[in-house]
Amino acid sequence: MTNEELSTLVDTNDEWIKTRSGISERRIAGADENPSDMGAKAAIHALKNAGLKPEDIDLLILATMTPDVPFPSTACLLQAKLGLRRDIPCFDISAACSGFVFALQVGTDMLRSGNYKRALIVGSEKLSSVVDWQDRSTCVLFGDGAGAAIIESTSTPNVGILGNILGSDGNNAELIHSAVGGSAKPHTPETIQNREHCLRMNGKEVFKLAVRVMSESCQRVLTQCGVSSDEVAWFIPHQANARILEAVAGQLNVGLDRFPSNLDRFGNTSAASIPLALEEAWRQGKIKHGDLVLLVAFGSGLTWGATLLRWHEPKP
Ligand code: UT7
Repeated sequence: MTNEELSTLVDTNDEWIKTRSGISERRIAGADENPSDMGAKAAIHALKNAGLKPEDIDLLILATMTPDVPFPSTACLLQAKLGLRRDIPCFDISAACSGFVFALQVGTDMLRSGNYKRALIVGSEKLSSVVDWQDRSTCVLFGDGAGAAIIESTSTPNVGILGNILGSDGNNAELIHSAVGGSAKPHTPETIQNREHCLRMNGKEVFKLAVRVMSESCQRVLTQCGVSSDEVAWFIPHQANARILEAVAGQLNVGLDRFPSNLDRFGNTSAASIPLALEEAWRQGKIKHGDLVLLVAFGSGLTWGATLLRWHEPKP
């Protein structure tokens, strides 16, 4: 959906959306295309790229804030769609736009327990189903999509996930939230008519916090690992707003050319945005074996996280 198409729905225009957010278009899933379906497509690509089969996966963690249904988990639905082994743990993580970074860390720690060898980590979102298509301050920002990664345990030192910080502050829950649709306030015909189930956001406040928390998270994980920002080949930030990326790059004193962005084509896809940007940077040949890569995210909760990793492609 292009900005022009959006301007037929709400009082907005291409110039405003591009200047304020950097977004030109976003992808909208079909009516019967759900996060488990998009997640399956992404996971099949990841399995192919890794030269693996569904039976090679020991663990599936799926990050989403737009599950197919309240229960069972979208991860279980995806397990069945992919034909993963019937005895492996599959579960969802709810950490909104930080979901992929949270899932990656939980998966890493489970691999480090020694009980699992390979984990499939998926971020998949159908934000078009929770956006208020009459609210121009939010509907222009979000899109649908999915990304997936496979991680495996290794005895090679100093590769893969080197460090990580995760955080949350539930005192700021109302800055990005949906008020209705859970057990506290189930849907009623009135709440649906009033679009109370839709995503609401205090954009200005979120913007300021996003810049501060993403910059601090990067600095903290770099300090934790004893690495300087100059040594990081690529920063893969949550794709929320081009101006947020510029500000974070500025705070870290890093050139924006080391912050790959797909915002112009996908908008904010929440938990899918980091794996989508990571895959694109890898496919374009930017990320190379041995590169230090820093993933950094921020989202509803509030939640945030940063992961420093050394990109390592095992020989097939
Ligand atoms: O995934 C993490 C969560 N989300 C984020 O990280 C989003 C963070 N926030 C943002 O990206 C920005 O705050 C926005 C893009 C949401 C808004 O940008 P802004 O520069 O903070 O604009 P604003 O909300 O202050 O609005 C400025 C003006 C207002 O008009 P007045 O009051 O100045 O007359 C709005 O009514 O722009 C108006 N406006 C629009 N105009 C045209 C708001 N949305 C639109 C629109 N088209 N879509």
